[in-house]
Amino acid sequence: MSSSGDEQFPSLSSSMTTTATPSPTEEKSQGCPFRRNRQDGSMDSSIYYFIDEEPNNPHCYRRPTGSDIRGPCPALNTLANHGYLPRDGKNITAKDLLKALEHPQTYNLTSPLARVLVYGGLLLLRQNGKTPKSISLYDIALHGRIEHNASVVHRNTPHGEIYAPIDVDLRLLEHFLEDDFMTIERIAKRRVELEVASPINGLHSEIARGEWSLVLGIFGKTNKGRINSDILNVWLQENRFVKGWQPSHRQSLIHTVSTSFRIRRRMKQFQQQNMKSNNDAEVLRKESYIKEALDDENEKQP
Ligand code: HEM
Repeated sequence: MSSSGDEQFPSLSSSMTTTATPSPTEEKSQGCPFRRNRQDGSMDSSIYYFIDEEPNNPHCYRRPTGSDIRGPCPALNTLANHGYLPRDGKNITAKDLLKALEHPQTYNLTSPLARVLVYGGLLLLRQNGKTPKSISLYDIALHGRIEHNASVVHRNTPHGEIYAPIDVDLRLLEHFLEDDFMTIERIAKRRVELEVASPINGLHSEIARGEWSLVLGIFGKTNKGRINSDILNVWLQENRFVKGWQPSHRQSLIHTVSTSFRIRRRMKQFQQQNMKSNNDAEVLRKESYIKEALDDENEKQP
């Protein structure tokens, strides 16, 4: 089976790029273009640490090189950047994915949760009734399968495109991480804003909640459900685990599903509030900003 988009996956774009991040030296000389705007413009240097400096560590962070393939999922890109998945992002089997997702130093998922994600994902990617035996990280960007519009940090797929954009949109990212901590409320509110601006079907809405429920569970469990935005910034932007990353627990299917229900409940509350206060200038401003950011690319289409 193809891992790079021949017969199974239509036209793996040759112009596909991996997310470019500056090297530490570039950062020092130019200032980091991705740094979150804080009051003093600073970034916690203990977090901004490059594990590249440990060349003997097989799981050191290494940015993708020109021929490496990456996709829209920050979790899987991170596993490849740390060598838990093939660093070139190609020929990845279900077994590779399960091993990497369940690894006690990555996301530490329980086997049932990892299986639901991996086999569920591969099922959604099937072509001509056949489930792929291996995939590349870009194969999962096939629009409308697992991949959906109204993403938190990616723009919508332009009309007529088969694959979704995989580069993180810095405006979306910056607005998402404008507070020091990420909470379930913030995620639910953002999902409502995104889905009002760019409606998606029930399955994709569920998938989107599942993605963030995993994130809240994996990164937020020890901190009363709050995630330090710097940690998320590094993970979403550079697809990298911060220095000293260790999961605090095994992330289970039941916990992930229950957090996803909680996100849905909060979303309903926000939707109702929105309906009550739909003259609220701030809500309208946010929605139109998001729509503009999501669809920028669409407007550039002929
Ligand atoms: C620990 C496990 C995982 C976590 C924490 C995770 C997290 C996420 C998050 C937060 C996003 C949203 C990015 C955004 O909104 O812009 C995302 C996107 C995505 N993930 Fe994962 N993911 C995991 C595993 C997987 C697996 C196993 C697959 C497939 C086999 C997958 C496929 C995707 C795809 C296709 C997207 C793009 C969705 C879109 O924004 O349209 N993910 N993931």
